[in-house]
Amino acid sequence: MELKDKVVVITGGASGIGLAMAQRFAAEGSKVVIADVKGVDEAAAGIREAGGQAAGVVCDVRDEASVAATMKFATDTWGGVDVAIANAGILRDGLLLRVDKATGMVADRMSVKQWQDVIDVNLTGVFLTGREAAAAMIDGRRRGLLILLSSISKEGNFGQTNYSASKAGVIAMTVAWSRELARFGIRTAAIAPGFIETPMVMKDMKPEALEKFKQIIPIGRLGKPEEIAETAIFIAKCDLVTGVCIEATGGMRL
Ligand SMILES: NC(=O)c1ccc[n+]([C@@H]2O[C@H](COP(=O)([O-])OP(=O)(O)OC[C@H]3O[C@@H](n4cnc5c(N)ncnc54)[C@H](O)[C@@H]3O)[C@@H](O)[C@H]2O)c1
Repeated sequence: MELKDKVVVITGGASGIGLAMAQRFAAEGSKVVIADVKGVDEAAAGIREAGGQAAGVVCDVRDEASVAATMKFATDTWGGVDVAIANAGILRDGLLLRVDKATGMVADRMSVKQWQDVIDVNLTGVFLTGREAAAAMIDGRRRGLLILLSSISKEGNFGQTNYSASKAGVIAMTVAWSRELARFGIRTAAIAPGFIETPMVMKDMKPEALEKFKQIIPIGRLGKPEEIAETAIFIAKCDLVTGVCIEATGGMRL
């Protein structure tokens, strides 16, 4: 796909990996729609100041009407949707069961809220983003691309029952949609990043934990948001890539 003047909608585009992707697609000459619950105007203004084309729209990916309105915004502003990146995601880590050391009895459980909050954003949000973007592409008679953000945690990570389940579900949607939507000229691919230096990871991480992680990453460092953006650019440019997940992890495995 040639990226110049293509309309690229990025959920969660105001921070971290989403913002890096927005900046990178804008540098390719794409028209970027930053869709996020917060920070959209600042993020879009930053891209415009750097000479790119960007617009911001408040979007909550958990909400069907909000996601539909986001695709309408892209169509009203720039004529359609060519690429949608379902990037918005959250963490609510915790153990499935916490057992009291002294008594050996279950002291706490992962709550349904903790489960549901992650599923709502990371799974339902990706479903709605993919569905509404594909609908806009088909109705707009445009061939297109869906890029979905999974994670290395899709394999099932300790303390991430909710997050791992959501990120594994994203892979299933990638394959299902690559089959269903190919007939309309729409490709779907996922990216599974390892540990990336973004607010999601760095906010609460203690220096000791950071050092521990570096030791288990073969390249000896966390990834950068720009490197995930580069992966998205590769997927966009190579029309043969669909129905797969590209792991960008620095060699780390769970
Ligand atoms: N950072 C990592 O190490 C890492 C690793 C693997 C996968 N990922 C995935 O990459 C994606 C981006 O993560 P990040 O590290 O850049 O996180 P981040 O916290 O920096 O950015 C996430 C963005 O999503 C937005 N968001 C949250 N809930 C939303 C909602 N309901 N609707 C719309 N936007 C919403 C936030 O406002 C924020 O701007 C996520 O899907 C995450 O799971 C990140």
